[in-house]
Amino acid sequence: MYSFLSFTLVTLSISICLHSAISQASPHPRPFNKVYVFGDSYTDTGNLNDTTTRPSIFQHVDSLPYGRTFFHRPTNRYSDGRLVIDFIAESLNLPYFPPYLNKTANTTHGVNFAVSGCTAIPFSFFLKNNITSVVPQSLTTQLTWFKDYIKGSGCNDAVSTPAECKAVFDGALVWIGQISANDYNYINLIGTNVTSKTVQKLAIKYQTQVINELLKMGAKYVVVQGLPTTGCFPLSFLLVPPPTELDQIGCVAIKNKESYDHNMVLQAKLHGLRNKFPSAVIVYGDDWHAYREVYENAGKYGFIERFRTCCGSGGGAYNVVPDPRRTCGAPGVMSCKHPSRYMNWDGLHVTEGLNRVVSKLFLDGAFAEPPFPYLLKKAAESGV
Ligand SMILES: *[C@@H]1O[C@H](CO)[C@@H](O)[C@H](O)[C@H]1NC(C)=O
Ligand SMILES: *[C@@H]1O[C@H](CO)[C@@H](O)[C@H](O)[C@H]1NC(C)=O
Ligand SMILES: *[C@@H]1O[C@H](CO)[C@@H](O)[C@H](O)[C@H]1NC(C)=O
Ligand SMILES: *[C@@H]1O[C@H](CO)[C@@H](O)[C@H](O)[C@H]1NC(C)=O
Ligand SMILES: *[C@@H]1O[C@H](CO)[C@@H](O)[C@H](O)[C@H]1NC(C)=O
Repeated sequence: MYSFLSFTLVTLSISICLHSAISQASPHPRPFNKVYVFGDSYTDTGNLNDTTTRPSIFQHVDSLPYGRTFFHRPTNRYSDGRLVIDFIAESLNLPYFPPYLNKTANTTHGVNFAVSGCTAIPFSFFLKNNITSVVPQSLTTQLTWFKDYIKGSGCNDAVSTPAECKAVFDGALVWIGQISANDYNYINLIGTNVTSKTVQKLAIKYQTQVINELLKMGAKYVVVQGLPTTGCFPLSFLLVPPPTELDQIGCVAIKNKESYDHNMVLQAKLHGLRNKFPSAVIVYGDDWHAYREVYENAGKYGFIERFRTCCGSGGGAYNVVPDPRRTCGAPGVMSCKHPSRYMNWDGLHVTEGLNRVVSKLFLDGAFAEPPFPYLLKKAAESGV
């Protein structure tokens, strides 16, 4: 706790120095001209468009009040408004990154391969273990889509050299959003002999493999977001069987430890990748500590509700019932008057308000390692 605090203060002061250096050094209004995005529902801007594979309790993402804030229409984003990746696009002075599956979208400045509900571990693993109500796409599927997307560029796969892939990665940021939360959630949801430890081992393996492959092809600037405090979501309180042990911030201890441990192993892997690809800049986005900061100091960030969903039914402490007819977007299910005062939106996904705060904590530098301004500085120096 204490050591984390001092670490934060140190990185904060470093990032302030870097920040002033950048504003003088960079003539670029756009630090990057393109962003390739991967992830799950926390990052998906519309790829989960197949209603037959949508997780049943979250099947109404194409209906209001999803999208009621800012877009004022449903956009297949799991929030009332913008996601973290949308705030990142704004900060980079780029248009929002369109979903890969929308073939008519203009992808000049970026494309988003993230799929809601998707896992890090391939679908075949879940099938083999009789866990069938899983979105069939995985992070590996997203890498396949990426390869399809760049077909014709001369850069085809892991055997391509960085020289062949220069056009693909020049001036590009690779953003690997949160992934693996679903892998754990799917095994929590049903009776299975698959353990959380097994999921951790496999999810990290596939996550690392995909990042490694992108780096091998020539990615130079990469952001990898860790898992957030998954024990703080209303559904975690409902899905983990009682007795529910709570941690210091009032969340489900076992789930917050699961995501914390996942992040520790992931960071060790990223450390290894930094050594293996010394010319790349790999930033770890510390969502877990950013979320914890906000859960601990909700009022300071303008929130009055930490655990109660804005959009849901059933009342009580969480206002969510894991029944598809009663979750956000289903006919007759209401949302709160002021979503910006709530942290949680639908039981599992968060409000635009929280996404805005988390983005700012990340962009300002304290909740990333190395700080995001350092990545901008490196990109500016190499003339991106
Ligand atoms: C969603 O699917 C419909 C029907 O297949 C299609 O017309 C639409 O373009 C798709 N949208 C996206 C973003 O993929
Ligand atoms: C796909 O992109 C086009 C161009 O931006 C947009 O007009 C259209 O609404 C998008 N389709 C979907 C289903 O989001
Ligand atoms: C796509 O966007 C870029 C950059 O804004 C623009 O130059 C280009 O003309 C657009 N392409 C199409 C087909 O509209
Ligand atoms: C999955 O279900 C099938 C058929 O019920 C059964 O034979 C098999 O042993 C199960 N596999 C696992 C890993 O539970
Ligand atoms: C878990 O393993 C035990 C012992 O092998 C077996 O009896 C049981 O059916 C398994 N449960 C599931 C859900 O696969």
